[in-house]
Order: sequence, then C-alpha cells, then structure tokens
Amino acid sequence: MSYPSLIFAIAALAAAFVLATRRPIVQQLRFGIYTSLQRRPVIKRPAPERKPNLNGCHEVAVALSQLINEDGAGCWPPRADHDSWPLALRPYKDIYLEVVPCLSEPTVSLDDSVNAERQSKFRDSMRKLLAERINIPDVVAILGAVEKGDWSVLSRDSYNGFYSCIAVCRHAFRWATIPVVKVAQLETTLVFPPELDAPWPYLQNHFGLTADSGNIMSNVILGFDPSGTERVYKINVGAAIPGLVKSSEDAFYRIFYDMEKQASHALPLYYSMVHAIAAFEADDKPSCLRHIDDLATGLRGLLRVFYSSLHERRIAHSVWLSYVQGFQAWGVGRVVGGEFVKFDGLSGNHVLIFHAVDAFLGIGRYLGDRDTQRYIPRNQRALADALRKSSFRDRVGEGDGRIEMELSEIAKQLRTFRAAHRSRGLTYLEEPAPERRPMTAGKSVLKGETLREALQPLDDLMIGRIKQTV
Ligand code: HEM
Repeated sequence: MSYPSLIFAIAALAAAFVLATRRPIVQQLRFGIYTSLQRRPVIKRPAPERKPNLNGCHEVAVALSQLINEDGAGCWPPRADHDSWPLALRPYKDIYLEVVPCLSEPTVSLDDSVNAERQSKFRDSMRKLLAERINIPDVVAILGAVEKGDWSVLSRDSYNGFYSCIAVCRHAFRWATIPVVKVAQLETTLVFPPELDAPWPYLQNHFGLTADSGNIMSNVILGFDPSGTERVYKINVGAAIPGLVKSSEDAFYRIFYDMEKQASHALPLYYSMVHAIAAFEADDKPSCLRHIDDLATGLRGLLRVFYSSLHERRIAHSVWLSYVQGFQAWGVGRVVGGEFVKFDGLSGNHVLIFHAVDAFLGIGRYLGDRDTQRYIPRNQRALADALRKSSFRDRVGEGDGRIEMELSEIAKQLRTFRAAHRSRGLTYLEEPAPERRPMTAGKSVLKGETLREALQPLDDLMIGRIKQTV
C-alpha cells in the first residue's frame, strides 16, 4: 500500500470517528489525526447511521475504524447507555437491580442443602419477575430490526448497555448465590428463563460470538456508565455485605476499564500502531521510530494501572476469590450439533490491548481459534488479525537498530507485566475457599487432588506465555 493511501486510510479513520461521535474534537498535531479525548453527555436518541467511506483504506485502519464505530458506538472505550432504552427492554435492568441485593451472602455456608435452597430461591424470584415484566416478542422485534440494520429503534450505545445487562443477568441466574458454591459448580447444564435466552443469540451474533457466557466486554467494560465513573451492574450490593468486599469488587473491575481509558488510555496506543505500520511501509523510519516510542511510553502508563491496583491494599485477598471472581465464571453447557459443549467465563486473556500489542510485535495468538470465536468480539479479532498481518518486526533490516531496540523494549514491558501478573494472580488463586472447588472464571472448575496440582496447568500456561514474549 502506498504512503498516500495510508494517510488517506488514517484520515478516513479519523473522519469515521468524528462522524460517528459528533463530539468535540482536538486535533493531534502529528499526521493531522483527529481524536476524541473528551466525553459529552449521552446522546439520548438513536443517531442516524452514517457509514464512512473506507474504500481502498489500509486493513489496519479499516479494522480500527470499524471497531470504534460499530462496537464502540463511535468512541473508545466503547460507550454504553443504560437508560435510553425502548420501553420493552427497560425491565431487564430494573430486575437485575431488584434481585442483585439477594445474590451475595455475607456468611458462607458449607451445607449443600442450604446453598441449593439459596440458589432455587434466587432463581425462582428472577424467573417470576422476568415472566411478569418481559414481553419476549417485543424484545425480539427490536433486536430483529437492528439485525436488519434499522438502528433507529436502538442506538449503538444503548445496544451496548443492553448487551451488558443481559449478560450479567445470565451470570446472576447461572450462579444464583455468591460466593459460588459446590452445588452450583456441579451443574453441567442449566435451563435459563426464556426471557434471558431469547435476546442472547441476537446480541452474540451482532458481536460475532458463540458462547453462552459473557466476556470482558459484555460483563465489565460495557457495564460502566457513560462517564466511565461507576459500574451499573454491581455484584455485591446487599446492606449486610462488608465494605471490603464492595471496594475490592470496584477496584478489580476498574482495572479493566481504566486500562482502556485513563490518562494513558489505549486508544492512542492503537493509533500509534497504525501510524508505525504506515510509516514503516512508507520507508519513513524516523516517523516509525517516533510512533513506536509513543507506543512504548503509552504502554508503560497503561500497565501502571495494573501494577498500582492488583495488590492487597486495593483488592483484598480474603474476599477476591469468593466474592469478586466467581460471578464471572460459567462452567455449564449444552448439546451443539450432537456434542456437549461447555463454556467458560471471563479471563484477562480477553483484554484487547494485549491481543493488539502481541499482534503488532508478531507474537502468536494466546487463545486458539475456538476460544477466540467464543469470547473475543469479531471486530476485536479483526483488529488483532490485521495488526499481526502487518507486523513488520521480522522485516526490520540492518541499520534499523533503534526500531528493533524499541520493539524489544515493548516486548520487555509485556514480559515484565506477565511475570508480575503470574506471581500476583497466583497469590489470589491460592486463597482458601472451602465452599467451592478450585476454579478460575476463565477456565472453570480445575482438575487435581490438591490446590497446587489444580493450579499447575494454569501456571504452565502463564510461564509458556512469558517465554513466548520476546
Ligand atoms: C487476581 C487477579 C487475576 C488472576 C488470579 C488472574 C489469573 C490468570 C490466569 C490463571 C491466567 C491463565 C489462564 C487463562 O488464560 O485464563 C490469566 C491469563 C491472563 N490474564 Fe489474568 N488474572 C488476574 C487479573 C488480570 C488482570 C487485571 C489482567 C489485565 C487487565 C489480566 C490479564 C491477563 C491476560 C492478558 C492473560 C492471558 C495470558 C497472557 O497474555 O499473559 N489478568 N490470568
């Protein structure tokens, strides 16, 4: 691709961004890119869809533009509106907020019958409220219209908010009591209320996903209010639940949002990668180096969010496993095409920035095809694929020593993150939780006689990834 067409690609990307957001913009000096760095109040009515013309643009720019416009509702981190929904959809949010105070228990019971009773009480009340207040044909009519491309019935940010709501309703119904308990872990299949099943295929098709469970986007990132200040669908909210549980929950989920947001947010990093690729392909090595340097600096700031949050003072070891993590697991399945398929829940391995930077550096994918299609939204997959295809690290020639040095510096940052993530993560997973079997949200119930044995395969995965990060 020629340099002018790459510049055109970037300009189109910026134009797409501006068209879709209709937000105040600030001009980035270099390359004349426009980027939205300010947030405005929610757009209350669905804006007419205006598709940017991306014909002839570079694949990476198209992928980023599509991600921002479609999944992000014109913004990144993506915008999610939780209030301006059509009447037929609104009861879902009300129901979640109504039942969730009864979801988590201040005292953990080790008695299976007590726990089974708690589960069925919660599920009964949720089933009843859903049956009373949701009109499935109305819900399906709205989602069906959107599927046909009629966004006048629901704006993209409202669609995002609704997706998050349905996903967390499904996770609440799945566990039906927090902390997660053995009786729930022993379930292999589960009949969901039809009100929670009916919208799910529409939402998953829209995002290009095949899992019955949610993912980091649906359950965490899209669960924040439009200002990015508060999570709308919290888990531990009952009056009797200790403050330590609530603050640890908030601090943990904030990490994922803040890594995409914050002063050091991920969007400029995605832009830097597009720019670096553009400059490299145009043989403009000084610009390429400058953008890689920006990426390295930005990544350092972004990773600081992780380092400064994932520790005992912000997220208590004593509550994380039982009260914070379990909700995001899944571990049940159904028969698909004659075969039983079990789905997993959320994992940090869904986080986009790691997919993107790994791909930019030419490091192979961490997740296989099956899990990528289940848990990573189509547009995020496309961005990572495009970045990997355009990765130029193995084409850096002699005389490009500084470019290679900067790329190695980025790999080193990732390696340091992975080492810290491994050691910190394991300390959380090693906490005792007698009410359940060893489990991670992302890998479901683990096999092994002892906790150490159960964690070993996960440790191996993390060690393996550290070794690949060169
Ligand atoms: C106490 C908190 C955490 C624990 C116990 C934990 C544990 C794990 C485990 C066991 C894995 C390997 C299995 C799998 O792929 O699911 C994993 C993978 C991963 N986690 Fe975490 N994690 C935690 C928090 C985070 C956070 C906050 C992030 C980043 C925002 C993150 C990012 C990742 C990534 C990117 C991977 C894929 C492997 C890699 O790229 O190195 N994790 N995590």
